[in-house]
Amino acid sequence: MNPQREHWGSRLGVILAVAGSAVGLGNFLRFPAKAVLGGGGAFMIPYFVAFLLLGIPLMWVEWTLGRMGGALGHGTAPGIFDKLDGTGRWAKYLGTIGVLGPFVILIYYMYIESWTLAYAWYSFTGHLPFGGGHDQMRSFLAGYQGLERNQYFSGLAPALAFFGITFLVNFFFIYRGVRGGIEKLSRYGMPVLLGIGVLLMVRVLTLGTPDPALPELSIKNALGFVWNPNFSELRNAKVWIEAAGQIFFTLSVGIGVILTYASYLRRKDDIALSGLSASATNGFCEVILGGSIVIPAAFVFLGGTAGAMSAAQSGTFNLGFVTMPLIFGKIPAGFLFSGLWFILLFIAGITSSVSLIQPAVSFLEDELGWGRRRSVAVLGAVALAACLPAIFFLAHGFVDELDFWGGTLFLVVFATIEVILFAWVYGIDRGWEEMHQGARLRIPLFYKHVIKYVTPLFLLGLLGVWSYQQFWPFIAMKGVSPGDQPYQWAARLLILALWAVIAGLVAWVWQRRGAKAAR
Ligand code: ALA
Repeated sequence: MNPQREHWGSRLGVILAVAGSAVGLGNFLRFPAKAVLGGGGAFMIPYFVAFLLLGIPLMWVEWTLGRMGGALGHGTAPGIFDKLDGTGRWAKYLGTIGVLGPFVILIYYMYIESWTLAYAWYSFTGHLPFGGGHDQMRSFLAGYQGLERNQYFSGLAPALAFFGITFLVNFFFIYRGVRGGIEKLSRYGMPVLLGIGVLLMVRVLTLGTPDPALPELSIKNALGFVWNPNFSELRNAKVWIEAAGQIFFTLSVGIGVILTYASYLRRKDDIALSGLSASATNGFCEVILGGSIVIPAAFVFLGGTAGAMSAAQSGTFNLGFVTMPLIFGKIPAGFLFSGLWFILLFIAGITSSVSLIQPAVSFLEDELGWGRRRSVAVLGAVALAACLPAIFFLAHGFVDELDFWGGTLFLVVFATIEVILFAWVYGIDRGWEEMHQGARLRIPLFYKHVIKYVTPLFLLGLLGVWSYQQFWPFIAMKGVSPGDQPYQWAARLLILALWAVIAGLVAWVWQRRGAKAAR
């Protein structure tokens, strides 16, 4: 165990760091696509229900578990779960998902983040085909991603270069530590992100009705699409699953990263208000900024609901990397707004990706007793090796496979385990008391019942419906072309190999500790 764990420098610093982890590509790329495909106002109802009944309670649970673990020298789930009374010997193995999950997301997240850096560069330097149409912008993206050779790109060299820079910047901040690296990055990065976000939002909202001949394609109608509640879809389980999945991903709950960040709190630091502030900041960035930039812009320029939907349907990254620059190309000084859009994405991305790296660093430092230099060097080498297949095999669904496991399934499984351990094994009464140590806000008692009954049942229900509807077809790779299947199996093997290493280390460390204690 590492007796000299770091602490955050200030309350604002930790709130910004957690908000930085939460506000990410999920807010600006994933949310608009999900909201558009979920039918705008029809998506927002399950989204808010999931926020109140899953997101907020899990956020508080993770902050509490993390702070408890940190006080005992553990910053990741294996050590933290093991210390909860009554868990027996198995809980630490369940906790391995909390180290594996963030790492699996990191493998593809950092690569996508590097595209945003590249696109900021190509926007400012005027290389993006702003004057061209949709097909040109699509070819630019496909060329950059190495999916085709065309007039813009003849190989992956630029993508590799921008990935290299992104990788080094990430590991630089990690190497500087929690206080000197992550906290500083968030302290400066988050205000810049908010400033750019508000600027872009104002620009989009003042577009009015860009084409007077088509008055129905107005910003007012676009906002109506997002905000007018629509109850017709509420009986559709898929909308609920998508909304809950988005809440997990965007708040960074169920991943394992909040546990680690909270482990650097001091015993008497507030959790209740800080957790809520970080979640509210994320909500603002997602719903207000994310919802007021991409969706209305796509609505007014692409021909209303149908146009926005078809852009969102045509590929996960289309709204962000194809539609947005095209739209900016239609307004004065568009290259500048496009550049700012991608800078915003890059800051959102990096403040999240460092949080995806830190659990593994914390695991090596706390459980293996390694120093920071060694932990960061070994982890950097493993991360680099793991990212390369994501870069080279993008066309074969390698990233989609990682996203299904790391960015979708593990989150719900891990959240279910942690809330049951917290409320039922450790005990909700003790947990509630622990949550209120040093609290600057009294959490409404209602949430005690939510954490004990509603959140676990909601999660179990989701897992049940999910397994029934999506898990088996996915496992069997239904609809995946035979040519892509080996690559997706390779992604599964990679995840399995990473898990085996983590579980093996847990077994070894605990066995060594047991032998030492017996001596
Ligand atoms: N919470 C991070 C995001 O939204 C992972 O991108």
